[in-house]
Amino acid sequence: MSETAFTFAQRVSRLKPSMIRELMKLMGRPGLVSLGGGLPSAASFPAEALRAAAQCVLSQAPREALQYATTEGLPALREWVAERLRQRGLAVQATQVLITSGSQQGLDLVAKLLLEKGAKVAVESPTYLGALQAFAPYEADAVEVACDEAGPLPESLHEVAGARALYLLPNFQNPTGRCIPDERRIAIANQAKKQGLALIEDDPYGDLWFDQAPPPPVAAHWPEGTVYLGSFSKILAPGLRLGYAVAPAPVYDLLVNAKQAADLHSGTFAQHLVIELLRTGMLDTHLGEVRAQYCLGRDAMAQALHSYMRDLATWQVPQGGMFFWLTLAPKIDAAALLPQAIEQGVSFVPGVAFFATRPMHHSIRLSFVTEPADRIEQGVAALAQVIRRALATQSGQAQ
Ligand SMILES: Cc1ncc(COP(=O)(O)O)c(C=O)c1O
Repeated sequence: MSETAFTFAQRVSRLKPSMIRELMKLMGRPGLVSLGGGLPSAASFPAEALRAAAQCVLSQAPREALQYATTEGLPALREWVAERLRQRGLAVQATQVLITSGSQQGLDLVAKLLLEKGAKVAVESPTYLGALQAFAPYEADAVEVACDEAGPLPESLHEVAGARALYLLPNFQNPTGRCIPDERRIAIANQAKKQGLALIEDDPYGDLWFDQAPPPPVAAHWPEGTVYLGSFSKILAPGLRLGYAVAPAPVYDLLVNAKQAADLHSGTFAQHLVIELLRTGMLDTHLGEVRAQYCLGRDAMAQALHSYMRDLATWQVPQGGMFFWLTLAPKIDAAALLPQAIEQGVSFVPGVAFFATRPMHHSIRLSFVTEPADRIEQGVAALAQVIRRALATQSGQAQ
């Protein structure tokens, strides 16, 4: 007799839990300084405005807000997204906007259309772990494109010739915090166009800039070859589970079909809430507050790193987003330090989680938006001590 009634599909072997989610189970300790999680600051959520919007929606349009809706998304929200992207330099019509259940769903839907067993998908080195997870079940092979501190090297794209797409994070990348400069965006788009390499541009952090808005999206330089993904998670709240995909016509229709099969449409109530919120005009003020708060966190972390780690690691100071990326001495295995760091009261994410093929074991991602300034300093100081001790032990062993 068979032990189980379930015979799983081949792809199931590719479904892996995120290392970060696994780590978060360890990180539930009271008092732990959390520099690990990639969660937006809960203090920034516009709870009051959402309460008022919910009241308004439920009293004025309860039937519509609680009913099924079209797969593409509510027209007012699609129009708002198109207008916002036009302001950022991307010529978009509302008919090209598909409202998704977070940009994570956008990644899954694009992967469903483009990837299959034996296909290649090119990614940055390092890249967003959630994208690697989204691509994995489609049994394609993720291949890394050579990058420097400004992002993927256009001249390296020929090394991934034949890939179905290049997955790109233009703004304040998760995990490195880097932002691709305008000239590099143009060069990447031109090279991709020359090679016929489709682009998947994932941009959940573009609104979280500190001093200066980032350059226009890469998609602006090759709209026919790019699927652009955006999100309301980092500008309002991730619990709304709302994002969007913008795609050229033939791809758009297929994305709609794929979304319909996946979940019919994104939550109608959440869409109504966001439309009501945007109608009040609160977003720009709200975003100003989030940027100011995150910028304080960035400054606190830059200061703490300078005080405690300048002889232990190298980093670039991010100009937006949520993360610092540290490169340690090559002999350090950051993952091996995590239990000691947690023992010392601080968490981080080992950089190894973010590589598709060639992991850099001596790297670390730190978030500067979860903790207040004084705790950021406390956490960085504790982490520095752990690294220093590991270095001392290793040089002791080497003697
Ligand atoms: C680069 C990147 N893409 C996509 C996502 C998923 O965001 P969403 O909440 O819109 O699904 C995240 C979340 O952290 C992210 O960092």
